[in-house]
Amino acid sequence: MKTIDLNIQDAVYFAEKEYEALKDKSVEAITTLEEGTGAGNDFLGWLDLPSKTPETLVDRINATAERLRENCDYVVCVGIGGSYLGAKAVNFALADSFADFYAPKPKEPKVLYAGQNIGEDYLAELQKLLEGKKFGIVVISKSGTTTEPAIAFRLLKNQLEQQAGKDAAKDLIVAITDEKKGALRTMADQEGYETYIIPDNVGGRFSVLTPVGLLPIACAGHDIKKLLAGAQDMERTTLHPSPENPAQEYARLRNALYQSGKKIEILVNFDPKLHYFSEWWKQLYGESEGKDGKGIFPASVDFTTDLHSMGQWIQDGERTIFETVISVKKPALTHRIPMNASDLDGINYIADKRIDEVNKMAELGTKMAHVDGGVPNIKIEIPSLDEYSLGQLIYFFEKACGISGYMLGVNPFNQPGVEAYKKNMFKLLKKPGY
Ligand code: PA5
Repeated sequence: MKTIDLNIQDAVYFAEKEYEALKDKSVEAITTLEEGTGAGNDFLGWLDLPSKTPETLVDRINATAERLRENCDYVVCVGIGGSYLGAKAVNFALADSFADFYAPKPKEPKVLYAGQNIGEDYLAELQKLLEGKKFGIVVISKSGTTTEPAIAFRLLKNQLEQQAGKDAAKDLIVAITDEKKGALRTMADQEGYETYIIPDNVGGRFSVLTPVGLLPIACAGHDIKKLLAGAQDMERTTLHPSPENPAQEYARLRNALYQSGKKIEILVNFDPKLHYFSEWWKQLYGESEGKDGKGIFPASVDFTTDLHSMGQWIQDGERTIFETVISVKKPALTHRIPMNASDLDGINYIADKRIDEVNKMAELGTKMAHVDGGVPNIKIEIPSLDEYSLGQLIYFFEKACGISGYMLGVNPFNQPGVEAYKKNMFKLLKKPGY
């Protein structure tokens, strides 16, 4: 199968000296990662997840998803951060853009999300939507103690038990959590929910290829075998140190750009379906690298939409940014611009063209303008937006993130900083013990 294509030619010359100097360090970093000798090496379970995921687990996940799909019009996935973003990214990328405006069909439930915010209106409106509806819950929390999903799950569990009865509700709730510890594990065991385990050695932001991501993706009707196949191929492609290893090269280049003063990386797409993929990517890189007073700030934009809002800054603002563009070679559908006799809008010069042809010229024109304006441009092309390509892309970014973090000199697998706000919040809420 065609692998994703990394093109660095419009970026590397912005930091040529640094890029050359980082050659050995990039080899060292990937070796450290593969040999498990670096900081955070008790969190490397994600490295061989694609090749080591047993078929029996995939079959069980598909069977659970099938049960929920048969019995629910809505499946609510409850989780936050690494327990939410991967599934949301894949489901959003693969869905019809207007799926939410169609009524649910038998065996094709809508997958909704909760526990990823503490919005009172959001939760109240979600519960209103679910009034009298057939719904199920996939509750996901590695620690089993995170406040946002705990609030959402408490509300939704009550509602489901009231609407379906306690016994039936039990079969419509699936918990994904730690094998032994945490409040969710205790509750799931007491209530008798079906459960899936989040491996101890896989951190939240690296967990999309565990049941954390796979079950919600299967619930939305997508092919998780193809997703894993793409990831497996990328696992093989990025296994060994080599100048041909795209993950190593991306990690090397972004560190070179960082050293040359490019402190912000903008992940760019020209396909709105990739919006949440960028959200997933931001967590992956932000939590992995932003520590010890270091780290590239990961930002994202959706083009051409944001060219009309952020385009000015990117073209002309402080020269501290570089961009990484995810380009989808071929859209799934064919749609052309119609001819119009009066041509009042003046776009007959592009009549009969496919819309994607215009999009691709916008992409090329933007790259030329940004590179001229001093913004290095890295391009990652995927053949099409499907499970296989997304699996490749996920593993590619995960692997590059581990390498890049080691090159930067941080532990890419911890996140001590995220506790600070929680301590304050708990104290303000008078949580016992704070
Ligand atoms: O990457 C992480 O570790 C975090 O984003 C967590 O995934 C997030 O805080 C949710 O944690 P949990 O799954 O324990 O509820």
